[in-house]
Amino acid sequence: MRDGGPLIPRNRAAHPPAYDVDYKTSVTRAPRWPLLSLDSTITEETGPTFGHDLLGPLDNNLILNWTRGEAPAVGERILMHGRVLDENARPVPNTLVEIWQANAGGRYRHMKDTYFAPLDPNFGGCGRTITDDNGCYEFLTIRPGAYPWPNRANDWRPMHIHVSVFGHAFGQRLISQMYFEGDPLIPLCPIAATIKSRSQLDSLVAPLDMARSKPMDYLAYKFDIVLRGRRQTMFENKPEGM
Ligand SMILES: [Fe+2]
Repeated sequence: MRDGGPLIPRNRAAHPPAYDVDYKTSVTRAPRWPLLSLDSTITEETGPTFGHDLLGPLDNNLILNWTRGEAPAVGERILMHGRVLDENARPVPNTLVEIWQANAGGRYRHMKDTYFAPLDPNFGGCGRTITDDNGCYEFLTIRPGAYPWPNRANDWRPMHIHVSVFGHAFGQRLISQMYFEGDPLIPLCPIAATIKSRSQLDSLVAPLDMARSKPMDYLAYKFDIVLRGRRQTMFENKPEGM
């Protein structure tokens, strides 16, 4: 076990409920019975582990990875960057961060996406990277477009990037979405509204970060991700007599 100690229980009050009446598909896919709490196993506490040799050089560059560097995607160039931390504010190094998103017109490269915005032949919409020793990650991509979805009469998703982070234990795995500072569709979105706490929703809205933007190239947005932590610190976990 990398850091030792069991995981801190998930704070369910900080996560959206599985069932929300304004989010139509949650009605049929949410559990109907109360959840059971099970103790985590060794496997869940200790895996998975990732190595940098898994990655290709363009895996975190969504502008170029679909064409293997041949032609850039259409759209407003942005850098998405931040740190993966645990809830004790310790960096989570060497963990896999995956993202997926719509193209600049709001269309996914997915057979079930029938929105009439065109596909970009130079944009796939997926990327991955592994955090460095300080828990830092970054992706070069394009700003995704907002898109309509069949929910209530006229619902639109704000601009967003989907994120999956594994952490150092399966029990830390987090799937979430990053929104963009200043997007007027955020307060209108039924999915964003499943998060009842304003401060929790704000933690999913990445601020513009001019300090990391590159002149005449791209704007930057900073998005820090916090996973469950462990009860014990490394210091407390030192073997007896050390
Ligand atoms: Fe989406």
